[in-house]
This record gives sequence, C-alpha cells and structure tokens, in this order.
Amino acid sequence: MNQRSGSGWTGARVFNGAMVFALCAFTLVGCSKSGLTGYWDLKVPNEDGTVRNTYFQLEQNGENLTGKLFGRSVDGTPLKGTVKDGAVHLETVPPERKPGAPPNEYQYRVTVYEGKINGDKIELNNVTRKINGTAERSTKEVALPPAPLPLPALRDLADNGLVRTPPMGWNSWNKFAGRVTADDVKGMADAIVANGMDKLGYVYVNIDDTWEEGRDAQGNITTNRKFPDMKALVDYVHSKGLKVGIYSSPGPKTCAQYEGSFGHEVQDAKTYASWGIDYLKYDLCGARVIYPSNEETHRGLYQKMGEALQASGRPVVFSLCQYGENDPWKWGTQVGGNLWRTTGDISDHWESMDKIGFSQIAISSYTKPGHWNDPDMLEIGNGGMTGDEYRTHMSLWSMLAAPLIAGNDLRSMSDETKSILMNKEVIAVDQDKAAKPVERLATEGKVETLWRPMADGSIIVGVYNRGEDAATSNVQFSKVPVLAGKRLKARDLWSHKDVTVGGDHYTAQVPKHGVVLLKVSAK
Ligand code: GLA
Repeated sequence: MNQRSGSGWTGARVFNGAMVFALCAFTLVGCSKSGLTGYWDLKVPNEDGTVRNTYFQLEQNGENLTGKLFGRSVDGTPLKGTVKDGAVHLETVPPERKPGAPPNEYQYRVTVYEGKINGDKIELNNVTRKINGTAERSTKEVALPPAPLPLPALRDLADNGLVRTPPMGWNSWNKFAGRVTADDVKGMADAIVANGMDKLGYVYVNIDDTWEEGRDAQGNITTNRKFPDMKALVDYVHSKGLKVGIYSSPGPKTCAQYEGSFGHEVQDAKTYASWGIDYLKYDLCGARVIYPSNEETHRGLYQKMGEALQASGRPVVFSLCQYGENDPWKWGTQVGGNLWRTTGDISDHWESMDKIGFSQIAISSYTKPGHWNDPDMLEIGNGGMTGDEYRTHMSLWSMLAAPLIAGNDLRSMSDETKSILMNKEVIAVDQDKAAKPVERLATEGKVETLWRPMADGSIIVGVYNRGEDAATSNVQFSKVPVLAGKRLKARDLWSHKDVTVGGDHYTAQVPKHGVVLLKVSAK
C-alpha cells in the first residue's frame, strides 16, 4: 500500500497530521474554538486500494459554514454550507458561467456534500458523485499544497523525431475514467488487431489517469492493484506490434488525485523507460495549485519532464496537457512536445465537440509534422452523439490534422462506429504528410465550409452543418485559388463515391450537425 495514500501532499507530513489528530482527541469541541472551523481531510477509498483525499478549510459562524476546497485541480474552490443538529451541508460555489459555455464543463459544476458529525469525525458524502467518506481533522500543512520546486532555465530541446503524422491510437479516459484495468488495456490491444485498426495507423494504446499507487521507500512510482505488473502489460501490448502510453502530472497529484511526478521527474522517466513506455500524457492538474499559470512557468514545468524523457534514452512521444493555457502551440515544440492539448476536456455531446472543433481553425497553422495541436480525444462510439455528429467529429479532427485517439470500447463497436473510426479515406486526410493548415472557404448561416490542401495536390473540402435543420449548400470550388479555372472531379469520402461537379459548383445536402467531405482535384 502506498505510504502516501491517505496522507497529505508529502509523506513527512503524515506525522504532523497524526500528532495534531492525537492532540485534538475525540471531541469536536475540544478540537476547535468554533465547531467545525479548521482543516479537514475527507478520505474516500478508491476501488483499487488507494485513497482519495479532499481537503476542506472550514469556518463556522453560528449555523453557517464558509470555506475552501483543496486537492483538486483548482486551488481553493470556494465552499458554502450549514451545520445544524449535527447535520452538515456543503457545496462548491462555481465561478459565474461564461456565455456559451457547454452545459457540463467541469469548472461550472456544483459539488454537494452532505454529512453527519460522528464524534470527532464527519461522515461526509459527496452527493453529486455518490461517494461516501469520512472527514477527519487535518492541519494546514497537510491540507495545503507544497511550496513550488525550482524550474529549469528555459532552452530549446531537440526534436525527438517521432510522430511525423498525427498520433493514432486509443486512450482509456473517455470511456473508463477511473475504472480502467490492465485487462481492459489488453482487451483494447487485442481488439485493435482483431478489427484491423492497427493497419490503419491506430498503434498507441494509452493508459490515462488512475494506474498509479504511490512511491516505494526509494521514491519509485508504484502501480495500484488494477495494474499489478506494468512491465508484463507493456510487453503484452508490444507483442501485438502496438505501442503503450502512460499518464502523469508535473504536480504532486493528478487530476483524479493519484500520484504525480512532482520532484520525481527524472526517476519517473527512467521507470517508464524500464517498463518500455512509448508515450507520456503529462497533465498539469496538480501543478496548478502550486505554480502560477503563465508561459514561463508552464514551459519550465514541461521542459523539466521533456529533458527527463530525453535523458531516459527511450524515444517517448511527449503529449502536453494543460488545456491550451498560455498558447502551448507557440512553445510546445521547444519543451520537446509532440502534441499539446488546445482546450479543456471534451465530453460526449454535440455542444462540447462543436465548440472545441470549430475553435481550432485559427490556430491550425501551428500544426507541423511531429508537433500537433490536440483538441482532445475522440468520443466516437460512446453513445452521446448521433452518427452524423460522430462523422462530423471524425471529419473535423481529420481536417485539423488532430491526433486520432479513440476513446470508446473497441471490443464492442457497432458497425456504424467501425465505419466512422475506420474510414480509410478520412484517415488519409488526417495523416496527410504535408500537414497544411485548414482554412475557411465560406460561412453561410450555420453552414461552415473548410478546405485543406493535400500533399498530392488535391483539396479536401468539408461542408459542415452546425445548424438544427438539414441544409443545402452550394459550394463554389473556384474560391480555392488552386482550383480556380480548372476542370474538376470530386469524391465523397463518406459515401465512398465519385460525385459529379457542375463547372466549379457542387450542391451539398448536409443533414443537421452533419458533414459532406469531398476530395477535389483537377481532371
Ligand atoms: C484531465 C485531462 C483528461 C484526463 C483526466 C484524468 O481532466 O484533461 O483528459 O486525462 O484529467 O484525470
């Protein structure tokens, strides 16, 4: 069992916590001058044997509670609540919603806790996530994040030469979140091969958050019981001809509150190399509560791990995940990055995918072979969107030359899901060697027409209907300079048929939230 699980941010602080706990002995009144005022550690056991700690700083004033929540990716989320006859109610106070924000963007969610005081503890349930735990008295030292560690002087790291076309593969988070196990990962590797997805380029099998346990006596990162033998798992996936990705954070804790690489970057990179890891997704989360968000700091945090990976001697794709803060597309290459998230998390519904996808066009020129904008993983096949919406998702990501990292259960895909994820002609757009930027051709009401030149001289034209009704769009190819004045032919990449072009026009019938994707070239 992890020596840090159930403790605070650092092992040494366990002792402080224990001592204060002992002094505070067994009555709430004895512990605090004003009831619940002070620091609390809500411990929730995870199913994998680790413990999730959430820290509350509370201030009781009569029956009213105010305070802050620590231990999440946001430092000190405000809390409000009440305590009456031993019953505790607490809820987070999210920031004011920005107009147009997707309905379930995480920072706007309210988390509600309900509990009962029980002796010197509070039996406290996270009602929103339906998880029960026990809150115990804690201390400021345990509850608040540690002081920052020094960051390296900024310099430009060498290009590792990997992923000359956008990486393709699978990641566990969108479908499995914290429930992913080694058997699931093996199952995905098997399914990739059985479906023939590897032949299309899907080669990275990426384990996201919640594989971690803690650190052993030498400070080496350890795996929890869902991943009993990481080396054996990696060997298995490699034996299928595939590659393996893993996940960590520059902070002490990941987004799901598991062990991060803070202060252990070099050691962790060596461990990954000894397991045979080929890809690291490095997620800011826990570092957010320690360091300010600015370009210099983010570059320092990511350069530190970029250097550690390069020093490990193993070629590792380096995937930056800091949600697009401080324009990583401008400096991601310099820290050794191969891809960088450009936005917050995607979720499996139209508003989220639409908002993320169409916000990428302006920065698409930053994408270059080996260095990719990453608008987050695919939700195709997860059930929250229609077939047309998923075809738009695949078409848009491909036009953006975005990583194609499937996020569904590959063991049980419908024929339609397979036909979307495994559309060779659309994948070829994504994987085009020239990696030229996408541009807008026209916007008519809710219909957006985009184009991108391919290495073979053809032009991909995507007609996207973002509206709520089916639309007819008259696409004028001559607006694309290289097509003007030429006799043209076109192929529909979803119907897999050549279509007739009348002069320089094509009339596209586009369903609600759907797409018509054409490959246009001179006859
Ligand atoms: C963040 C990332 C997600 C996922 C989770 C894991 O939210 O943006 O993609 O990795 O953390 O906790």
